[in-house]
Amino acid sequence: MAGQPHYREAHPLVFVMTHWVNLICMIMLAFSGFYIHFPFFPGFMGVARGMHFFAMYVIIINLTFRIVAAFTVKTATDLGSREVDTDIKNWLPQEKNKHQFFETVKYYLFLRKEGVISAKYGSLQKMAYLATIPLTYLQAYTGFAIYGPTMKGGFFAAGTTLVGGPMNMRIIHYFIMWVFIVFTMIHAYLANIYNFNPSKIIFAWKETDH
Ligand code: HEM
Ligand code: HEM
Repeated sequence: MAGQPHYREAHPLVFVMTHWVNLICMIMLAFSGFYIHFPFFPGFMGVARGMHFFAMYVIIINLTFRIVAAFTVKTATDLGSREVDTDIKNWLPQEKNKHQFFETVKYYLFLRKEGVISAKYGSLQKMAYLATIPLTYLQAYTGFAIYGPTMKGGFFAAGTTLVGGPMNMRIIHYFIMWVFIVFTMIHAYLANIYNFNPSKIIFAWKETDH
């Protein structure tokens, strides 16, 4: 939020690392995925598939680790404060988020002038970030359902039957990629809407005082 200091306590180094791993994997997966979908230059399919099969495990392990870490790592739970508490508190409804969802939406729709001061994460931020968890696992599920070594497994085959065959599963996998691309564009824009200080802390672990 504008005018709020960005402290290391809010984003401990371990979460700077998980964000980096996530971003790098996403770039690798989207790039190789695009190539697998439509090989826009010749002779790269082996590498593209290898890249995809490597990054898909890394992103799942990284996400699972991030979830476990939410229960063990302490982070600042208030904007601009160095006071820490277990990170999971940032992801549950907090007193400071109350009745702010519609106000935040109004602000983004230019129906409200002042920004909404909230907890470390605003209500909209919480919902969007949390939504990426089931979405990433769903992407993994649809991916394993079209992956040779795992597609015959009952757990994945059942889903493939449900959606009407592997081609439909492939289309769902492709569609979810676009959801991630749109999410990332909006997220990167809104995160830096006032200044680049939020990015300085999440990428370079550099503190700023406003
Ligand atoms: C999270 C775990 C993931 C798994 C297990 C997975 C698995 C796979 C597999 C097995 C294929 C087929 C490759 C082949 O047979 O050559 C594939 C294709 C693809 N993947 Fe993933 N993937 C994952 C995540 C992602 C992500 C995050 C994206 C995009 C952001 C993505 C985008 C794509 C695209 C665009 C294709 C090509 C689909 C098509 O042919 O239309 N994947 N993936
Ligand atoms: C150009 C790419 C990106 C930029 C500039 C960016 C920027 C940021 C910033 C500044 C924050 C801190 C927000 C705050 O505390 O106010 C953040 C956090 C976060 N971002 Fe990104 N991000 C990018 C890519 C992604 C991608 C690809 C994903 C997932 C698909 C993602 C998911 C998240 C999540 C879940 C958090 C919360 C971090 C945590 O507490 O562990 N970001 N991002």
